[in-house]
Amino acid sequence: MFDPYKVRQDFPMFRNKIQMQDHDLVFLDNASTTFKPQCVIDAMNYYNEFETTNSARGDYDTMYHVDQKIHKTRQLIADFINADVDEIVFTSGATASLNLVAFGYFANHLKKDDEILITVAEHASNTLPWYKLQEIIGCKVKFIPLTEEGRLTVENVEKTITKNTKVISVANVTNVLGFYTDMKPICDLAHKYGILVVCDGAQSVPHVKTDVKRLGLDFLGFSGHKMLGPTGIGVLFGRKELLKETQPIFYGGGMNEVFEMNGSYVLHDVPAKLEGGTKNIQAIYGLGAAIEYINNLGLENISKYEKELRAYTLEKMKKVKDIIIYNENAESGIIAFNMKGVFAQDLATLLNSKGIACRSGNHCAKNLKNQIHEIATVRCSLYFYNTKEEIDIFVDALKEGGNFLDAYFA
Ligand SMILES: Cc1ncc(COP(=O)(O)O)c(C=O)c1O
Repeated sequence: MFDPYKVRQDFPMFRNKIQMQDHDLVFLDNASTTFKPQCVIDAMNYYNEFETTNSARGDYDTMYHVDQKIHKTRQLIADFINADVDEIVFTSGATASLNLVAFGYFANHLKKDDEILITVAEHASNTLPWYKLQEIIGCKVKFIPLTEEGRLTVENVEKTITKNTKVISVANVTNVLGFYTDMKPICDLAHKYGILVVCDGAQSVPHVKTDVKRLGLDFLGFSGHKMLGPTGIGVLFGRKELLKETQPIFYGGGMNEVFEMNGSYVLHDVPAKLEGGTKNIQAIYGLGAAIEYINNLGLENISKYEKELRAYTLEKMKKVKDIIIYNENAESGIIAFNMKGVFAQDLATLLNSKGIACRSGNHCAKNLKNQIHEIATVRCSLYFYNTKEEIDIFVDALKEGGNFLDAYFA
């Protein structure tokens, strides 16, 4: 039986009581970033205290250990998403991964009038790189219509595909409405037409099993810090033949075999070719520890508990006067809401005054206003260490908030 109280003991952040509050910080902004368990902090400290060397550049024991550790972590990540080890590229985060796909692969494969399909629910990181390609190449970014509630369906993908469509790039779980899209039918359909599929896994990989082979994904990007790891590390998965055709963004040490004065050079094979410069080694140690921690808890247990907590949260929230929920039927731990007549930032500020961290605004998904007709929402995003007790504190604050703000606006 999964016990959130037990796992909380592994997270030093829960020991930091915020002043003036009679309870711990209620952290409901996990879609933004997650807390780090002690084992992640320890793994990073271990590198800094005992194994500080560069990687793949020396012939001494410590560097050998570091190289081994990096290889093992790459394998751990590959197993986590069912990829091959040389299909895993270390990046600095989901943003870097998606930019590498756009500028390293598609910048060299798209031409004028080719079409890129995205949705209005995408994060800036899965929108702006494509806008930039549109600007440079003259290819076209087109939006797949979402259903009224904001879901992506394979039917709408099919209706939007034309003979010019070359790539579909969508989030597996969107970061404001939190809807989960089954990528398999989308990949099956896309491949029938020779279209490639890029998946933004920033909000899905930390929460649900992602099997790149079963789904048929061509590229997948995600961030370490949204899955208990440190900031500054992320992953790009790409099918090997596609990675081989991807041009590096960074040219430098660690990615070349040879270069000469006449301007000739030979690059390493993937993934090293795409990882120019010194890697964020301490963060790779941290991400490895984070994945081991998640594996020990069991991703299925995490998913199951998050579903239960979401249902509990929704049931309570729905009883609060004037609450508007934008994604009641979403599968993830993300709940986007507002309170009638109250500006989202005001509500988040009020929650903050009660020791509750929720994000408000457009959440980097600035095209979503065209779908939900709101420029700002408050977002409560759960992870497995949140408890029902915390939800009660949150909902009580919302109730009080309603009264307080009612009085304010009266
Ligand atoms: C859906 C989605 N994609 C991409 C990103 C970008 O992640 P990062 O800032 O870690 O690169 C985020 C971050 O919030 C996200 O939610």
